[in-house]
Amino acid sequence: MHEDIEKVLIAEEVIEKRLDLIAEKIRIDFANQESLQVVAILKGALVFMADLLRRVPLKLEIECLNVASYHGGTESSGVVDFLDAKLPDVKGRSILLLDDILDTGRTLEAVSKKLIDLGAADVKTCVLLTKDKERPVAVEADYSAFEIGDEFVVGYGLDYDGKYRNLPYVGVLKPSEINL
Ligand code: IMP
Ligand code: MG
Repeated sequence: MHEDIEKVLIAEEVIEKRLDLIAEKIRIDFANQESLQVVAILKGALVFMADLLRRVPLKLEIECLNVASYHGGTESSGVVDFLDAKLPDVKGRSILLLDDILDTGRTLEAVSKKLIDLGAADVKTCVLLTKDKERPVAVEADYSAFEIGDEFVVGYGLDYDGKYRNLPYVGVLKPSEINL
């Protein structure tokens, strides 16, 4: 797996240090909540969720949503499908929504809207990565660990064609590994 990576963009130790800071911010910002409802978007947020939430010493409840917004290649399709038969009960709750990356913003926008439609009182968003680019929709994450350039990355939850999610760092694939 590592031999397919051209360069490491964000090393594991760097991610860990940054997560300590984000977790502390979340702890302070949500300290007055009786319990905080976290909603993580699968599968991209899996690794980020596990590492971040173990650093947050609040009474969290965790739900996951299966959403498909990327269909194989390295370009976002813009279509967001909700794949779960049953969506979580979020009525009246304050939500912390987690995703791996803010790219076009369509996923976070669609999921935030869905949670509000389902009766959530408030939705705050948290991503590992924000791509520095012009977005078709005006969304910003309330918490973002890193800003990166507009390039395709894998690892730490992010995949290419379903693979590389278990890389412990964020990296860029060798062009020879990408089938266009
Ligand atoms: P959106 O374009 O902001 O809606 O992002 C949709 C989804 O595309 C994200 O949740 C990721 O799963 C995926 N994605 C966007 N950029 C990348 C990338 O650079 N590598 C891997 N997946 C990505
Ligand atoms: Mg993905």
